[in-house]
Amino acid sequence: MRRGLLLFLLLTSFAVSAQRIVVPPYLQPGNTSSLSKEMKVVLWEVDSVAGNCKVEFVEGKSFEGATKITVSKITSQALTFGGRTSYLYRAPLTGLKLDADYTYRVSLGDQVITTATFRTRTKGNAVRFVAFGDMGAGTPQQAAISYQMHLQNPQFVLATGDIAYSYGLAREFKARFFPYYTTLEPSPDKGAPLMQSVPFYLFPGNHDLYGADLLKFPDGMALYYYSDGPMNAPVTEFTTEVKGPEDRIKAFKKASEGRFPKMNNFSFDVGNVHIAALDANSYVNPLDGALIEWLRRDIQSSKADWKVVTFHHPGFNSSKAHYDYQQMRLLSPVLEQLGVDLVINSHVHNYQRSRPLRFAPKLNEAGDRYVISPEGRVDGKFTLDEKFDGVNTTKADGIIYIVSGSGGAGLYDSPISNNPELWKHEPADNWVPFTVKLISDVHSFTLVDVIGKSLVLKQINLKGEVLDEIKMTK
Ligand SMILES: [Fe+2]
Repeated sequence: MRRGLLLFLLLTSFAVSAQRIVVPPYLQPGNTSSLSKEMKVVLWEVDSVAGNCKVEFVEGKSFEGATKITVSKITSQALTFGGRTSYLYRAPLTGLKLDADYTYRVSLGDQVITTATFRTRTKGNAVRFVAFGDMGAGTPQQAAISYQMHLQNPQFVLATGDIAYSYGLAREFKARFFPYYTTLEPSPDKGAPLMQSVPFYLFPGNHDLYGADLLKFPDGMALYYYSDGPMNAPVTEFTTEVKGPEDRIKAFKKASEGRFPKMNNFSFDVGNVHIAALDANSYVNPLDGALIEWLRRDIQSSKADWKVVTFHHPGFNSSKAHYDYQQMRLLSPVLEQLGVDLVINSHVHNYQRSRPLRFAPKLNEAGDRYVISPEGRVDGKFTLDEKFDGVNTTKADGIIYIVSGSGGAGLYDSPISNNPELWKHEPADNWVPFTVKLISDVHSFTLVDVIGKSLVLKQINLKGEVLDEIKMTK
């Protein structure tokens, strides 16, 4: 009996002292949209309550010689799944200047577990970011892509959905997403220390919402725990339904702190670029009145030269996979009116670039409503800019649509790579040759470089080779 008690005490003290970090500290953009306020949020997760964790930050690239050290106020949420509780910590770094370097460190007890330097958003004209989707599948290709993204030193990352396969569960985030972007050292076969210093803007694909039945998936909808980004758009009429036992739903709402479904649509500025991210899941009405009104005001009030819209499911896709899912085409006339330059999507696991295009969806007989087929097809009239080549002719007449869905998960339709004969679909009011590049036999990501009125877009593969490159000018 006494031996049993001793063993229990030993095990208990071991468990307390060996507090395990299950998600290492990483940076999020925080709930800030315009450049009038700048902040970041550091998050990390441990498997038991930390007695004394601490987050400090200083302006500059090091704590050495810093005259002012600010201590961040930490909050925590208990995440209990399957009888086990872990703790997700959140430390906002507020009152930051634009165009400045800051260094933060996270300590647990006497031990500093992470020190990282980041740069705040710029108000200047030079902006570099990467976009990629369909990544969190736990593959070697995903590690190689992470490593290559790290080499490009982006200011921020757009993670365009399907972030953790297959159901967006907390355990999937921990196994298939975070380990690839939070390694200690960069390496092509493991990943890179990206998220410690670069904010990832995370938004939902379809897979991230497959865990909305909390009875079946107690740790579902984990995106809403692990993200912390802008929440400046209205909540739309339709969203996915979170189901399950009442206490589970209550716990989800508490720990996700209002991010569901508020964070499904948002926008933000970085320097000369304005980005609006939209939910494109099957339940949405792309022409939701409140959302369109917000989008109009949001984009029209932006002084940025470059206007980018991003959502998960592409409207313009020449692959065989997901071809019929075209509901986001309904938004094209609005985006054209608002002067949007570039739309970045994923969902289809390959890379596609369209010609600059304008699209007028077909109206019903009464002429008062667009037509969408039961399969999701949207017919209409295409106007393609055939002159733009991104090299000699760089002013685009219309929007360029990018599919960048080859961030890590298995590729789609490999045999059609670089073979325009195999991209064709019918009839002509549903598909015309709007795709100029389609690469589906290698994983890749999108790099965008804006300098003033010039924008260069490159698609880079897992070896660092440039697969496609265009320049756009105003
Ligand atoms: Fe998807």
